[in-house]
Amino acid sequence: MRLVMIGSGYVGLVSGACFADFGHDVVCVDVDDGKIAALNAGKVPIFEPGLDAIVQSNAAAGRLRFTTDLAGVVREADVVFIAVGTPSRRGDGHADLSYVYDAARQIARAAEGFTVIVTKSTVPVGTGDDVEMIIREENPSADIAVVSNPEFLREGAAITDFKRPDRIVIGTEDPRAVGVMQEVYRPLYLNESPLLFCERRTSELIKYAGNAFLAMKITFINEIADLCEKVGADVQKVAKGIGLDKRIGDKFLHAGPGYGGSCFPKDTIALVKTAQDAESPMRLVETTVAINDNRKRAMARRIIAACDGEVRGKTIAILGLTFKPNTDDMRESPALSIIQGLQDRGALIRAFDPEGIDAARSMLDAVEFGTDAYEIARDADALVLVTEWDEFRALDLKRIKRLMRTPLLADLRNVYRSADVERQGFRYVGVGRPEAASVR
Ligand code: UDX
Repeated sequence: MRLVMIGSGYVGLVSGACFADFGHDVVCVDVDDGKIAALNAGKVPIFEPGLDAIVQSNAAAGRLRFTTDLAGVVREADVVFIAVGTPSRRGDGHADLSYVYDAARQIARAAEGFTVIVTKSTVPVGTGDDVEMIIREENPSADIAVVSNPEFLREGAAITDFKRPDRIVIGTEDPRAVGVMQEVYRPLYLNESPLLFCERRTSELIKYAGNAFLAMKITFINEIADLCEKVGADVQKVAKGIGLDKRIGDKFLHAGPGYGGSCFPKDTIALVKTAQDAESPMRLVETTVAINDNRKRAMARRIIAACDGEVRGKTIAILGLTFKPNTDDMRESPALSIIQGLQDRGALIRAFDPEGIDAARSMLDAVEFGTDAYEIARDADALVLVTEWDEFRALDLKRIKRLMRTPLLADLRNVYRSADVERQGFRYVGVGRPEAASVR
């Protein structure tokens, strides 16, 4: 099949490269000619484990190409995926669909023969109808079907998520498009990944409902963590205890500093707006958004409290800046609110992240960046573990203790056991694990 991916960002590039790996002929398109030139030279502009190799091998095999010439490649395509950004619109929180609509107009002018147009970008319910209307207005004779096929890729695990998905959701009621999409996903279907066909609007809502549910699950366990601290219980054991119930499941029950990233914050807000507009408000999701925002700020207060209520002039070392490990993405990262909250109270911030420093430099002021955990720990008054990168899981605590001015570890991801850390002479602050409970 000849596939075109409009937008060579995170979703477009991962999906395009994986489709090529299945044997399809794929062209990834982008307006940024610098990015396309880099990709044609074998350079992948984002950090995603395993992506470089798939891009390079499929490009070498001639199955994966990169271009800025949208019209030229759409003309030849069987399926055109729209995988452009849908950022939160400034001011009202709605998803900004201007890139999606622009792509639709350009596709309409170029498409020849039966062409399936697939929205992969996360778009509010009803966007497929708008895309179809735009295309039909722009080119009334175009022979097209507009399909919704949301992505469920986690950054850092995107290749595995693409190749071994829990499910593939395809929203269309057009029988020809059903046949084409079955062919597109045939390699996965053979892997026994279920293909769920449904109406287009249903498919669009599945994406938002899924992300909002996961955001709620995280927020629920974060509130349980707060309660654990008050009543002397251990959130990790509560999570295990409830997670063994198959109806609940054990995933997304790690208490921490609040969720971040490019999806959950944006998608929960967009769902809230959609629901309000439809006069069917989603109060659980509204509350989730508010609790999570508060939580990120509360983490700075927690650190200040652990520093005996005063951080002015003190040096706080931040381990991990990205919103989660194995990505260089800083968007909506809890680290941003935490650092801001500490700086507002006069703290001096040092930070290290294995992949996020370049992005962090443009988002943070007055932060001194180090090259590893030990460098930033020198003379620090607190070490705060914000993102659970593997290399922070087995720190040489003896060495760190010697380097720090005040041996205090605020472990916002519950990577360490308080007893182990305290044995090394540190004060330890975790999340939802009062000292008495985590020693046992
Ligand atoms: C998410 C969805 O998982 C994916 O299906 C969707 O398509 C895009 O959004 P991603 O944003 O890459 O993927 O990250 P994810 O691994 O889901 O984590 C999101 C945030 O939640 C991170 O900040 C993470 O640290 C936090 N989180 C996750 C928790 O705090 N606790 C958990 O138990 C799980």
